[in-house]
Amino acid sequence: MPLLNNETINQLKSAAIKASANAYCPYSRFVVGAAVLCESGSIYTGCNVENASLGLTVCAERNAVFGAVAQGETKIVAVAVYAPVDTVTAPCGACRQVISEFNPKAEIYMFNHKELLTQVNLQELLPMAFGPSDIENPT
Ligand code: THU
Repeated sequence: MPLLNNETINQLKSAAIKASANAYCPYSRFVVGAAVLCESGSIYTGCNVENASLGLTVCAERNAVFGAVAQGETKIVAVAVYAPVDTVTAPCGACRQVISEFNPKAEIYMFNHKELLTQVNLQELLPMAFGPSDIENPT
């Protein structure tokens, strides 16, 4: 899969920024938006949704991936993460694992309010990933 062209990268960025407007984060005040590009060309978005129990918080990336899968899209090409902070916001460990289920080689684009800060392949974020084929033959 070739890397994305600039137009598609900008579409992902815009979608992630738009989704971040719905971030429900009264506890952390840390706003995040995510956009998932699927092989079909469709883009699915999510924002972080926190909970008073704190532990039930779900990140923007997982909400976006689950939204895609709920629509029958299980072939993920790329994920964009947007957070309006100065530092890079990379997907947490749980989100890396969830993205990996649908493409261990997904491209991950990390944006802030100014620019694309970093682009990496999920393999770099989650080496030696445990995946679907690892549970095919339990003893
Ligand atoms: N968060 C995300 O949604 N994605 C990330 O990549 C990092 C963290 C959220 C979870 C929580 O609502 C807040 O940011 C602070 O951790």
